[in-house]
Amino acid sequence: MARKGNSIIHGIEIDEIITMLNRAYADEWLAYYQYFIEAKVITGIMKDAAIAELTQHAADELRHANMVADRILQLGGTPLLHPEAWFTHTNCGYDAPETYNVVNILEDAIKGEQCAISVYSQIAETTRNKDIVTYDIVSQILADEVEHEEDLQALHDDITEFVTEIKQQFNG
Ligand SMILES: [Fe+2]
Ligand SMILES: [Fe+2]
Repeated sequence: MARKGNSIIHGIEIDEIITMLNRAYADEWLAYYQYFIEAKVITGIMKDAAIAELTQHAADELRHANMVADRILQLGGTPLLHPEAWFTHTNCGYDAPETYNVVNILEDAIKGEQCAISVYSQIAETTRNKDIVTYDIVSQILADEVEHEEDLQALHDDITEFVTEIKQQFNG
């Protein structure tokens, strides 16, 4: 535990920060696995572009899990030790892919990112001017999640536009 490092935290209980971070930690592992398995099972048009994006996101979520775990340890907490705890602590849950179509997979993933954006903006609000280090870490993660949402939405729109054009050509 960082003694001097933690003495600069004020106006918020350290346990409260650890609890919020452990919930986010559960989200990151579930998001990591969701992207990992989506990249494996996805089917349909332009799936290679989607696989590249999903694989990159999986790597980012695992990196976020690392950042959050390190901060929990600095604060004197313990990152969740059992995978079962991911399900009892998660904010955003886990959406197992049901249909493997590229558009549905991207829609699930966009929903997940929107949840992550809400969670991290909430933690940033709660720690602002109270725990500068956590605030800084969650702000960096938040910027990544905003970029994730944008990348997925852009890809989703490209694919749906392409499909619409092809349909028009066939019908016209
Ligand atoms: Fe993340
Ligand atoms: Fe993300």
